[in-house]
Amino acid sequence: MEELKTQIAKNPVPNHIAVIMDGNGRWAKLKGRPRVFGHKNGVTSVKQVIEGCAEVGVNYLTLYAFSTENWNRPKFEVKTLMALLVSSLKKELKTLQKNNIKLTTIGNIQNLPKKAQIELSDVVKKTENNNTLTLTLALSYGSREEIVNVIKNISKKVVNNQLNVEEINEKIINNHLYTFSLPDVDFMIRTSGEKRISNFLLWQLAYAELYFTDTLWPDFKKKNLFNAILDYQTRERRFGKTSEQIENINE
Ligand code: IPE
Ligand code: IPE
Ligand code: MG
Repeated sequence: MEELKTQIAKNPVPNHIAVIMDGNGRWAKLKGRPRVFGHKNGVTSVKQVIEGCAEVGVNYLTLYAFSTENWNRPKFEVKTLMALLVSSLKKELKTLQKNNIKLTTIGNIQNLPKKAQIELSDVVKKTENNNTLTLTLALSYGSREEIVNVIKNISKKVVNNQLNVEEINEKIINNHLYTFSLPDVDFMIRTSGEKRISNFLLWQLAYAELYFTDTLWPDFKKKNLFNAILDYQTRERRFGKTSEQIENINE
């Protein structure tokens, strides 16, 4: 592990990593256990990835924990996921404080059960002045819903003469997203072999490097994260320019 860290330290790490934590259900099924057993075991991976990001100096980590579409899952599974959220927040507050990690959320938080809302706002408040890693949980999050809200809110400002149509630009749209305080995503990891975005950060991923691994989420540990970061460090991010332009950037 130390060797991987030394290797990572040689190059810049992604400033903002986003993760689609997928494959809990299949992991449990392979073990002949109910789906929620997978969710419970996924919590260890969450902890490992947070810790790993903090150790190598990633500044922003955004985790897709529950999508707007996930409300359509069986009632028992949704209930268990919400209970798991509450118990993990309670348990992990101390660790967040100790490691100076700030918790924020994106998504339609009002749709969550009251208990989860109360626990979340408590942890968000208590960690708001922490300043190493910003950990963002996407909960009841859907990128299309987010964009619809942006359009509604900007339209209201136009109607109320607070904004001219001509003034609307990318920065204004950015400032109306749930993620207004976060930088663009540099690196997006999805576990479990699925190669899709599933309504996650459609705008914010515009120039992110994508990484797909067959590893199921409960098996994704610190070592897997470090290997993913090493893969990121081999990529050339051109942002539309040519390779030669990028190579000569410091000249
Ligand atoms: C990801 O694992 C967790 C959530 C979506 C909450 P899944 O529950 O989607 O696991 P699979 O994809 O069914 O294996
Ligand atoms: C995406 O996983 C949402 C989260 C990881 C929270 P899903 O398992 O819900 O994605 P799809 O529906 O298979 O694309
Ligand atoms: Mg899934």
